[in-house]
Amino acid sequence: MKDAVQTKTILRSLAGETLPTPPIWMMRQAGRYLPEYKATRAQAGDFLSLCYNPELAAEVTLQPIRRYGFDAAILFADILLVPQALGADLWFVTGEGPRLSTITSQSDFDVLKPVEAIHDTLNPIYETVKILRRELPAEATLIGFAGAPWTVATYMIAGQGTPDQGPAHALREGNVALFEALLDRITAATIEYLSAQIEAGAEVVKIFDSWAGSLKGDAFQKYAVAPCAEITAALKARYPNIPVIGFPREAGDGYVGFHAATGVDCVALDNSVSPDWAAAHVQKDGCVQGNLASSHMVTGGQSLVDETRAIVKAFSNGPHIFNLGHGITPDADPENVSLMIETVRAG
Ligand code: CP3
Repeated sequence: MKDAVQTKTILRSLAGETLPTPPIWMMRQAGRYLPEYKATRAQAGDFLSLCYNPELAAEVTLQPIRRYGFDAAILFADILLVPQALGADLWFVTGEGPRLSTITSQSDFDVLKPVEAIHDTLNPIYETVKILRRELPAEATLIGFAGAPWTVATYMIAGQGTPDQGPAHALREGNVALFEALLDRITAATIEYLSAQIEAGAEVVKIFDSWAGSLKGDAFQKYAVAPCAEITAALKARYPNIPVIGFPREAGDGYVGFHAATGVDCVALDNSVSPDWAAAHVQKDGCVQGNLASSHMVTGGQSLVDETRAIVKAFSNGPHIFNLGHGITPDADPENVSLMIETVRAG
């Protein structure tokens, strides 16, 4: 019998090993496509109450592990809990998404709390992590996460999701000092938040930069690459053995060199890049994660099988963690998730 720690496949991939079958997990694997998630969410009352209820948040995190036997569980929480912990108002409008109080002036920024205060709000999240480390099967890896500073800032500035991140771009062009002060506050808070998740038992952390693709050229370097590098360096200084996954979604050519520029152990790919291109230009530098289009979880069938096989094959000569290119959507069919997993594991 091998030691359980050494057999955790995701940790082996993150350490650079090429495995015969890639380990697999799925963004938003605990979500509304699962009836058991909807039942627990109803029990909690609403989404934020679920995030802040350690027993129920741990329960929904475990549901997809029980149903599918994924190789990793991702902590159930949200990237917008950090703005809330910094003092922003946060609520979710059914059918529309998140809403926050906006930050567009120095006086809005001045009322934010100091970084040390975040744990007052986020303690229940660390409690969820502790429960999960006790209850997860020995072979499953626990992934913690946070939003990247740019993506979190886009919500804090606009007060909601935006198609083109216009308000955040306007602030960085119109008042760069305020914009950078906000990014610095989020960066510092993210370092403390992820450190606390690691202290509580997270074995890997992932930094979600969902809107990295709207930063171009020098702005991509300054506001996507640099904050990710700063967070990664701070975590590596404290926890040298904890792997970091970076997800600069829709970065395109910005994926090239992202491992080296940020120090992350793995780069997560969205499905706008072809696996063959990414194998040649990104995986050559280290582990990659991805990148099946989440629409296949709705449509299923032979195209799901063909595309899954093509991704496994393209990345078979290096370290790879199979995943979707973005989160699974509420209209997905749970049977298609089983088909994807069977296809990956059949080799
Ligand atoms: O992947 C996981 O299962 C872990 C948990 C997780 C959630 N959100 C749960 C969630 C993670 C890692 C996130 C990240 C997140 N949250 C991102 C970055 C990744 C991405 O998807 O691009 C962003 C931008 C958010 C902000 C956010 N949270 C939005 C825009 C929404 C509303 C959209 C929607 O799907 O309704 C959420 C809500 C949210 N976060 C849900 C879940 C499961 C749905 C809430 C519900 O049950 O109604």
